Amino acid sequence: MKAHTLFVCQNCGFESVKWLGKCPGCQAWSTFAEETRIRSTKEKKKSRSAKPVVTLLDRPVESYSRISTGINELDRTLGGGIVQGSVIMIGGDPGIGKSTLMLQMLNTVKTEGDILYVSGEESWTQVYMRARRLGIEQKKISFSAETDIEALIGLLGERNPALVVIDSVQTLFHSGIESIPGNVSQLRTCAGLIVQYAKDSQVPVFLVGHVTKEGNIAGPKVLEHMVDTVMYFEGDTQYDFRILRCTKNRFGPINEIGIFQMGASGLEEVANPSELFLSVERSDQSGDALVVVMEGNRPFIIKIQALVTKTQFGMPQRTATGIDHKRLNLLLAVLEKKFRKPFGFHDVFVKVAGGLSINEPAADLGICMALISSLEDFKLPAGTAYIGEIGLGGEVRKVSRLDERVREAGRLGMQQVVIPLLERKSADMPKGMVRKVSSVGELL
Ligand code: TYD
Ligand code: MG
Repeated sequence: MKAHTLFVCQNCGFESVKWLGKCPGCQAWSTFAEETRIRSTKEKKKSRSAKPVVTLLDRPVESYSRISTGINELDRTLGGGIVQGSVIMIGGDPGIGKSTLMLQMLNTVKTEGDILYVSGEESWTQVYMRARRLGIEQKKISFSAETDIEALIGLLGERNPALVVIDSVQTLFHSGIESIPGNVSQLRTCAGLIVQYAKDSQVPVFLVGHVTKEGNIAGPKVLEHMVDTVMYFEGDTQYDFRILRCTKNRFGPINEIGIFQMGASGLEEVANPSELFLSVERSDQSGDALVVVMEGNRPFIIKIQALVTKTQFGMPQRTATGIDHKRLNLLLAVLEKKFRKPFGFHDVFVKVAGGLSINEPAADLGICMALISSLEDFKLPAGTAYIGEIGLGGEVRKVSRLDERVREAGRLGMQQVVIPLLERKSADMPKGMVRKVSSVGELL
């Protein structure tokens, strides 16, 4: 056995023979930790015949089947349920609700057979108490606190469960690796063994992973390439919304999101996000504008809030919450140059109500209207939603999937929807409801 020391970035897995302050791989600071690798010198080579070769003309023996989790929002994010033998990683900040979601899912999932919840983070007492609080009393869920990966794989082989949740992957360790649990080499080795287990046994496995900002334990980023599906659980502490976002999925689309609300008895699904996002800030003031965004296949209406005030000292401030900072700067530049709006002398704060982040050009028109409404201190007409991308010349440009957006606005009782001029009007849009504009100037 030969041991050698390496320094590994706990953020991205970059390896170096000496310690570095800044990672050349991901540009993060102070993320290097010392890890010891043991190279087995007399590791015997197993002779193994290669896996068979097939062609695209050969029909696969089995196509993958899905199991419903019993939670609509989770199924939707997964692309229609859990695929047999897949490894799904769910990442998120500590305390966001990953363990809660997993426990609730174990209660509702439609599997036949044993369900195993492995937790290296909480004791049986804690898990039991939480399950009681969530109202999980009937279902048989097995619990194990095993964190030694080799023992765990042995245990899984013995019990042959139908579904496994490991909470969290950062508590697992392999005794052959001399670095602490949560380090990159530990994480990769353990996750590798789990992926192999899932593929061999066709048992789906959920891996919970904490996102850390400090980098003293490695984040789920270093595992993304190994697993089939990656989901992140994000949230806004103020309103208790939780958004489950899929960033990688070998078995489905990645743009779907699931929306939950954390309550006294756990996470509740939010089936009608527009109603919820609108209800949090009902009062209409100057600086408020409604936009219709698409998240995955769902349109929903949210409110943009802008506050524009005279700059007191020198440099004007720009603060964007929930929208891209650069996008805001660009829109401000367009309004200043094309429509002579003096934003250069004003501090600007823009926020998406409800704590959602949006990344869609279709919200541009609404953002511009919110900005102007606050700058000039007038209220925008009530019950009006704005849809349109703004070009560098101040023109309102076309957006994708307009019909669905307008329909959603109609469903929520909007009286008017402002849309780009060049869009054709489809038959099922209510008469008198849409107003077409070619430029922001037309609305001023
Ligand atoms: P948890 O699932 O432990 O987070 P994670 O596993 O991602 O670290 O969630 C913990 C938070 O959720 C905690 O701050 C309390 C809150 N919570 C509720 O508000 N209601 C509930 O019913 C439960 C179980 C938790
Ligand atoms: Mg937890």
